[in-house]
Amino acid sequence: MPDSDRRHIKVLITRRIYPEALQILRDYAEIDYNNSDERLTATDLLRRAGNAIAIMTPTTQQFNAELLGKLNSVRIIANIGVGFDNVDISAASRLGILVSNTPDVLTETTADFAFALLLATARRVVEANRYLVGGKWIRGSIDLLAGHDVHHRTLGIFGLGRIGAAMARRGNGFSMKIFYHDCNRANKALEEELGATFVSKEQLLRESDFISLHVPLSEASRRLIGEPELRQMKRTSILINTSRGAVVDEQSLIKAIQERWISGAGLDVFEHEPQVNPVVLNLDNVVVTPHIASSSEETRRKMCLLAAGNILSMLQGRRPEMLVNPQVWDSTRHSG
Ligand code: 8YV
Repeated sequence: MPDSDRRHIKVLITRRIYPEALQILRDYAEIDYNNSDERLTATDLLRRAGNAIAIMTPTTQQFNAELLGKLNSVRIIANIGVGFDNVDISAASRLGILVSNTPDVLTETTADFAFALLLATARRVVEANRYLVGGKWIRGSIDLLAGHDVHHRTLGIFGLGRIGAAMARRGNGFSMKIFYHDCNRANKALEEELGATFVSKEQLLRESDFISLHVPLSEASRRLIGEPELRQMKRTSILINTSRGAVVDEQSLIKAIQERWISGAGLDVFEHEPQVNPVVLNLDNVVVTPHIASSSEETRRKMCLLAAGNILSMLQGRRPEMLVNPQVWDSTRHSG
């Protein structure tokens, strides 16, 4: 594309991304690239989005209705991530702004990590590492760092979407009994393939040894796990969260761990990232990681490429592959 045409098309990239994805867009648009790991403030975002037609962003950048209302030239927000709770989707749709995401490419990687957290918490891997590195291994003992078995136990999955199903497959590899709960029951074929039994929320809480959360954050799932739920869980159970921090009521979780209503937790997500309650950091039987479940080199690269591809499609007048609000495309028949 000639430089003169390209200059009319501006794309804002709000954070450092894999360079291959940048390259895809460079041929079609002038890029305003925040080549840093610092989140843009709302003021900076507004200033830089000035006459941008597209914004590519990790899910850490917030787009509320007020901000969206000021992004007059923007026609697509391409999230680098499957989640889209960072964007007020109904406001974006009302304003005719497309929102895209990056599902599928991160499914297996995220489930790998959720299972890694499950194993690490149950078998006290992080604590054991600290113990040895800290020079505490003087002698062995019959119950040295004894954890809990994972194999042949019950895995309860909240949300049997792509990642929840991938988690169930991993559970099968460990001969686990699989329970799930979801607002929509899965079809019979999937249930059979996964050996997953649909149960009520209460049964899942009462009978699971491990509970793994795979629901998107919405008003319905906010604080899905609070004090009443934690009190129903087994005293030996472990909670795994790789979805969104706000799905769990953190204060109740702290109380549940401290007072041993449950035995531990593996947490990759927190309500006010990157801030994490220091109390959580100091609990022995909690394994914490900084929102990295999708972070393998391969997958994060693919996520960036898919997000760039979503923008490119729109610029070329094609329907982006992964739209969260496809009705916006259909109603405005975007022509690029
Ligand atoms: C990423 C995520 O950490 O996909 C999501 O929704 O939360 C994670 O995969 C994040 O989106 C990076 O932008």
